[in-house]
Amino acid sequence: MIKTLPVSQVTLGMYVVDIPGHPMMAIRQQGYIRNPEMLTLLRKQGVKQVLIDTSRSERATPVATPSAPKAPLKSSAPQKATLKEELPRARKLYNQARQLQQRMMHDIKLGQQLELEPVERMADQFIESVFRNMSALNCLRLIKDKDDYLLEHSIGVAILMTLFSRQLGYQGEVLHKICVGSLLHDIGKVMIPTEILNKPGKLTDEEFAIMKSHAAHSRDIIRATPGISPISLDVAAMHHEKLDGTGYPEGLVGEEITTYGRMIAICDIYDAITADRVYHRGASPALALKRLLEMTPHQLDRELVQQFIQCIGVYPPGSMVELSNGLVAVVLETREDKPLKPLVKSVYNPKTRTHVMATVVDLAAPHCKEKVVRAINPRDHKLELDNYL
Ligand SMILES: [Fe+2]
Repeated sequence: MIKTLPVSQVTLGMYVVDIPGHPMMAIRQQGYIRNPEMLTLLRKQGVKQVLIDTSRSERATPVATPSAPKAPLKSSAPQKATLKEELPRARKLYNQARQLQQRMMHDIKLGQQLELEPVERMADQFIESVFRNMSALNCLRLIKDKDDYLLEHSIGVAILMTLFSRQLGYQGEVLHKICVGSLLHDIGKVMIPTEILNKPGKLTDEEFAIMKSHAAHSRDIIRATPGISPISLDVAAMHHEKLDGTGYPEGLVGEEITTYGRMIAICDIYDAITADRVYHRGASPALALKRLLEMTPHQLDRELVQQFIQCIGVYPPGSMVELSNGLVAVVLETREDKPLKPLVKSVYNPKTRTHVMATVVDLAAPHCKEKVVRAINPRDHKLELDNYL
């Protein structure tokens, strides 16, 4: 079946049969959208709509980028699980990831070499969890211990990168290497003095320069790790690079930053903005997405930010919202096709300041009258997300 789609809805794996109004298009008129660069090109050339053959389009396609050789695919996909089924496994995994981060940082501080194997095992388990259920680990990302930002940020970024990469169609070995690099991306922070790392106020120029050196430390530590892949290295080494050259450690510009580097810059900023810290409260997911958009196209890749927004959604799982009936609800699951109508569980009445009987509501159901009024911060009502999952 041939369908006309706005270019904003074109994703990897779709089969393009024509690009109306662009006979001299720099990419071939027909074929699969195989990588994010092709999507970027469509936008850059001002394409508004494309004709897609839905019968030939794939659900997800392995991505080939200049630095990513086509990956072998894992033969068996993990079975799907409901959020309720996956949450206990995801919690266990999350705690194991914290312990692993702690252990790695301890070892590096002692001057020992990074051991890759436990990180690889962790990456595999992260990917399996996300493939079983996209919401479970992502919910846990929002329950953070503000005193442990260092540990939890790397895990949060790895969760976001796994979700984002999956959305972009990465699979198999490439996805695995992206996840490994994400888990390791901030390892260089062990080399930064604690008083700078945990300073509550604004850093001085000198302190900021020291802080920024963590990216180069991460790169050097990871580069010296036997068996590390160039993809994992790119992910970690480029996580603070910006398209306009204002990033660090190299100040890379435009095309010098690979797709992996562009992706992790987005996930890193999003996690940092939404995280509760000792000295400030995290921004709402909606505000964080707005900030990301404001950073495009000069600092962040606009196409990738748009894909990220599609992936994470305005009301991500684990976030809290106010419904039109006045109740506060926790978002359990989102649908790609109906991002403003998630599956929610109403839990609290802010007017009476009392908890209500937890009721799951599918806002996308045909007869559902309720809708989301706004995103709320659970701390405004002294609610702990962890109690409602
Ligand atoms: Fe960093």
